[in-house]
Amino acid sequence: MIDLHHHCLPGVDDGPGSMAEAVDLCKMAADEGIDTIVATPHVLRGRWRSGTRAEYASILDELRSKAGTPRRILLGSEYFFGHDMDEMLRNESILPLAGSRYVLVEFASHAIPPLVREPLYRAQLEGWTPVIAHPERNLVFRSNPEILASLLRIGVKTQVTTGSMTGDFGKEAEAASIDWLQRGWIHVMATDAHNTVKRPPRFQTARRRVVELAGEEIAEALFSENPKSIVENRGLVYDPDIPDVTGTKSKPLFARIRKLFPR
Ligand SMILES: [Fe+2]
Repeated sequence: MIDLHHHCLPGVDDGPGSMAEAVDLCKMAADEGIDTIVATPHVLRGRWRSGTRAEYASILDELRSKAGTPRRILLGSEYFFGHDMDEMLRNESILPLAGSRYVLVEFASHAIPPLVREPLYRAQLEGWTPVIAHPERNLVFRSNPEILASLLRIGVKTQVTTGSMTGDFGKEAEAASIDWLQRGWIHVMATDAHNTVKRPPRFQTARRRVVELAGEEIAEALFSENPKSIVENRGLVYDPDIPDVTGTKSKPLFARIRKLFPR
């Protein structure tokens, strides 16, 4: 299995503070059946200084040699959304997931800024596919899921946290995860691991839950096949169409006119 969202690089953000802790995190991930991690340090202006690709690659080399497991540890980032996303991609301030054309994008947990659709769409016109990190932990997406659905309909993908599926992020995040799983709104499950104690890289319990709720085939897609497609920069294996959640179809123009001018 592949974990596409994991803060295993030591000393660069709110992930592990030391190399020893990072090694423990990688070993714990391997014990959960994860054979590939994509390291996703935060790109969050003003809070942490974002490192360069070369700096991260050097830390990653050391981690690979010290941890020895999982089989692969690749490089990406988790970009905190800004309206200049396309510019940030062009100047390589954002590291895409494993060198692919997929980009992990997060929002604050309590808000979605206005006019998010356009930059997310513009990025796609330049060949990128935004993957929204943990939408189930965002208050606005939870209380108005149509906002999320409108992004899905323009081609944005989602990554839900394994801990949300098992209730570790509260009842609301769990309920949204289950609801969206059943609607076909989730493309990838990932740990968003930060440390071995409070934010550990747990996969197995969440995978069992997904099997119970949606079946083995979808669990395989969310934990293995879709992440594999992203790492290999291909289209997703599991990528359902998203119908209008309101269930209302717009009526043909003549029908609306007839209602305005009844006989
Ligand atoms: Fe994260």
